[in-house]
Amino acid sequence: MIHNVTSESPIGIFDSGIGGLTVVKAVQAALPAERIIYFGDTARVPYGPKSQVTIRKYAYDDTLILMRYQPKMIIVACNTVSALALDVVEKACGTLPVIGVLKAGAELAVNATKNNRIGVIGTQATVSSNAYACAINMLNAEIEVISQACPLFVPLAEEGFIDHPATKLIAREYLTEIIQHDIDTLVLGCTHYPILRRVIEETIGQSIRIIDSAEAVALRTKQLMTESELLNPARRAYAPHLLVSDLPQKFSMLYKLFMGSEMPDVELVEV
Ligand code: DGL
Repeated sequence: MIHNVTSESPIGIFDSGIGGLTVVKAVQAALPAERIIYFGDTARVPYGPKSQVTIRKYAYDDTLILMRYQPKMIIVACNTVSALALDVVEKACGTLPVIGVLKAGAELAVNATKNNRIGVIGTQATVSSNAYACAINMLNAEIEVISQACPLFVPLAEEGFIDHPATKLIAREYLTEIIQHDIDTLVLGCTHYPILRRVIEETIGQSIRIIDSAEAVALRTKQLMTESELLNPARRAYAPHLLVSDLPQKFSMLYKLFMGSEMPDVELVEV
């Protein structure tokens, strides 16, 4: 059943793990007065190597967890869920607005490319779904999309291996071929990847523009909340309310690293 929403209701954001914090950061920067409820499904990460059936089930569970907090909208800060299960989330949300990272990333990339050659990196599930190529070609059928799954990037990010030699080695292994296709734009099609952005940038060089959809999602959220007159009028900034399905030992260290502030209290939820 759909609840009443007011401007003070929170914005619900979820991902399979810590990757969605990159989206939380962008939404906070654009809308500091909004209350954010973030759910990271840390017990079941990674989603990327799993089947569509499992990913759709997880997407449904994640949405129901956030719905308990009566949000005014939901942001799917996970490309894998955006690619394979956005309809599941939309259905579970009823009339509440839902924004997925994939469409926002595709739009940004289409606007950025000059030579109509876009590279997309993401989880195995996102790449196999072909959802980015579809979203990009819906906007411009002339664009060639070259995709590469980078499954090991997710555990490396979850481990905090931001500048580790192993990350550099694996980045070279994954990215050397894709950059030989003369792409001028590379979409980070997984919300964990901006965490490894420095190594990715070093590996592909400066002539390729990197697209991170977090800012586009934050902008779209602001537009949507303004249009529906649901912007929170509060004059104070809120720390996000964090929910996780497991509390890994490194969570607090990683939170501090990515968000640049101490971790607020975390609530453990069962999935
Ligand atoms: N961060 C997620 C994404 O954007 C999923 C990573 C995973 O769980 O494999 O695709």
